[in-house]
Amino acid sequence: MKTKELYDEFLITSMVGGFEPIEIADATDTKITGTDGKEYLDCFSGISVVNAGHGHPKVIAAAKEQMDKYIHTCTYVYYQPRAGELAQKLAEITPGNLQKSFFGSSGAEAIEGAMRLAKHYTGGNEFVALTNSFHGRTYATLSITGNSGRKIAGGPYMPGAVFSQSPFFYRCPWGSKTEEECGEKAAKALMETIKLHTANNVAAFIAEGLMGEGGLIVPPDNFFPLVKQMLEKEGILFICDEVQSGFGRTGKMFGIDHYGVTPDIMTMAKGIASGFPLSAFTARADVGDAFTPGSHLSTFGGNAVSCAAALANIEVLQDGLIENSAARGEQLKAGLIEMQGEFPIMGDVRGRGLMIGVDLIKDADKTPNTEAAAAIKIACREAGVLIGVGGSANVLRVQPPLTFTADNVDHVLATIKEAMQGINTELA
Ligand SMILES: Cc1ncc(COP(=O)(O)O)c(C=O)c1O
Repeated sequence: MKTKELYDEFLITSMVGGFEPIEIADATDTKITGTDGKEYLDCFSGISVVNAGHGHPKVIAAAKEQMDKYIHTCTYVYYQPRAGELAQKLAEITPGNLQKSFFGSSGAEAIEGAMRLAKHYTGGNEFVALTNSFHGRTYATLSITGNSGRKIAGGPYMPGAVFSQSPFFYRCPWGSKTEEECGEKAAKALMETIKLHTANNVAAFIAEGLMGEGGLIVPPDNFFPLVKQMLEKEGILFICDEVQSGFGRTGKMFGIDHYGVTPDIMTMAKGIASGFPLSAFTARADVGDAFTPGSHLSTFGGNAVSCAAALANIEVLQDGLIENSAARGEQLKAGLIEMQGEFPIMGDVRGRGLMIGVDLIKDADKTPNTEAAAAIKIACREAGVLIGVGGSANVLRVQPPLTFTADNVDHVLATIKEAMQGINTELA
């Protein structure tokens, strides 16, 4: 495989568990084809990016039309129509009174910008985040990432980053018997963390609308409403990180839409343009206005081709794909839950829309079963189905393009079942 040799020789890589042994020749809708001609059903979407499918014709057409006019002029020096139009669209589709956007190129860049904006607006300089969270690989975003495995050999990290236990019901830190109790305990713990472990100068609390890399953790229904109420009393902003859970992924436009809560700032990337590099953060107008001339800029941010692609992408998503994500997600979840009876290592099936995880365990103590997850992923790939793995490398992640059909779901279920039948699925 020629590209593997080039990677080994000339690329800096650090992929956990090594690369998938596939050299890409083509990717169309839900199908990826290798240079050896082998075809795969894509259930990982380039890490949850191509929500409208690989190379959606309308997204491609919009990008091509823009490329024929101009590609880059710098959105923050000259007025660039596509950026204006996309910002207006984001104000329309984000919850409540979120209105003003800033564009960057990556998820981490959006979060760094949102953090800076929160500092400007509040005058605070501390951030509270959740354990199991993931917010990116830059210095500040890794500092607020609550997953020590991602931070090895990178410290010391940014001061003023504090963590509170995540509302992870299946492995509830308080041993709660109901999701509601777990959500309430987590909200109280967050406020205690702020009181006990900060210098009372918190700019923002940041959390994902559905925790992706941490293992598809769905915060209980009462968590965000309780937290938002408490934060408002303290004058602390809520930044909702929708980088992974946005743009129809969870069966609604954004993960936070399931809670009826309006954050003060929302961060977006990945699915925003189904593959074109673009990110954004959208804030309440008064919060957005806290930046003064010179406060913030991004050379590539809001690239005209990416913005044009995003506008077409959002239209495609709104034209039935978000509903499809919800329906196919229910079908997938129901099939996996049915399988749980047959395979005891399938400890938990969770998620929303086409953002579904299977928590594999070894024993009654729910010890993460990383070996089984690796084996299932390989068996699925060999059978032509690409899935991801997350959490403590023990959670199977099924996050396909939102164009997934009922037949695609049945095929994935049958493939996972066959893979399970090939390994020891009894608890120790
Ligand atoms: C929730 C969340 N935030 C931020 C990021 C970082 O995004 P990027 O890799 O585009 O910088 C990710 C990436 O996986 C993510 O899942």
